[in-house]
Amino acid sequence: MPSSIFSLASYKEGIHRAHKAGYITYADSYVPESGEMQFSNHISWDINGIHYEGGLSFTNTRHLFDGIRLVLAYFEDNPLTFLELGPGAGNACYELSCLAKTMNMDVKIHTASYTPVNPYMTLVRSGDELLASLSSNPHLKIMEKGPNGCSWYILDEDVFRMPHEALDQIYRKLDDPYIHHQYIGYYPRDIDLPSAGFDIIYDMFGPLHRKDVASIVDAYSRLSETGMLFFVFHERYAPGKIMLEGAKKRFTPIFNPKDTVVVDTQHYRAMVARENNPLARHFRKKFKSEFQTFEAHDMMGFLKWLQGDL
Ligand SMILES: C[S@@+](CC[C@H](N)C(=O)[O-])C[C@H]1O[C@@H](n2cnc3c(N)ncnc32)[C@H](O)[C@@H]1O
Repeated sequence: MPSSIFSLASYKEGIHRAHKAGYITYADSYVPESGEMQFSNHISWDINGIHYEGGLSFTNTRHLFDGIRLVLAYFEDNPLTFLELGPGAGNACYELSCLAKTMNMDVKIHTASYTPVNPYMTLVRSGDELLASLSSNPHLKIMEKGPNGCSWYILDEDVFRMPHEALDQIYRKLDDPYIHHQYIGYYPRDIDLPSAGFDIIYDMFGPLHRKDVASIVDAYSRLSETGMLFFVFHERYAPGKIMLEGAKKRFTPIFNPKDTVVVDTQHYRAMVARENNPLARHFRKKFKSEFQTFEAHDMMGFLKWLQGDL
């Protein structure tokens, strides 16, 4: 294989190709919040004439949350539209596209983000596995090593300077795009997303991990009638406070009273399932309760318990 197959130029060329083919829509103009770009941006990118440095980091290459595998089982027979808010380098979307193939499901993947992903060239490793593949690179910066893992960062240009054999372990070329549509801009204000119809909206430390409640309400409004929203919240920001308060009061006023809301009070994860969502229906059948919101100490444990008698 020629050494130029994996390069920063070929990564960006794939983004241009995807844009030309109609797989990427850019907002007319937008201003990213200051200070938020460094660890979000998986590539260096120019916005409104300003250059933002980017690279891979522990905060933009996370795995798909394992619970999504369990959630998919509830949708098995129908085509599904999935929206990830804040996909970072796209690892979770790629894992989802592989999962959908394995489960023989028709899943259309959409994203909303500040920076586009090359949908024809994916990272094949996430998180710690990716870190291991990058560990020979002298430019890799390890900030902190803790009991729950390591915080690290590496600039895009330093990744792509690695020898071809190393890059071959990190990236893969694809014939078809694994993300079907990317919306690039500031969410929710500047992005022209379809108004409704998403079956799963997923946000892992993306725009919903913020201070404004309006983003959560906006995401919720874009769900299909059988849809569900999954997000990680920040316990000290307003949306997080609303979710934790809801878990105590068993009702979260920003959602419909007939929804099923599950709040993981240990890992700060939330799941909101519309009244006709198959998981919500199964839950109500199994657990005959009048309440809208439930506290789960662990979302994964909750989903496993629920799936126990599918
Ligand atoms: C910290 S990264 C998380 C990436 C990925 N979910 C992960 O866990 O590895 C934050 C992501 O959210 C996006 N993001 C954050 N706030 C945003 C906003 N207001 N509008 C659009 N994208 C936003 C960034 O572009 C980036 O893709």
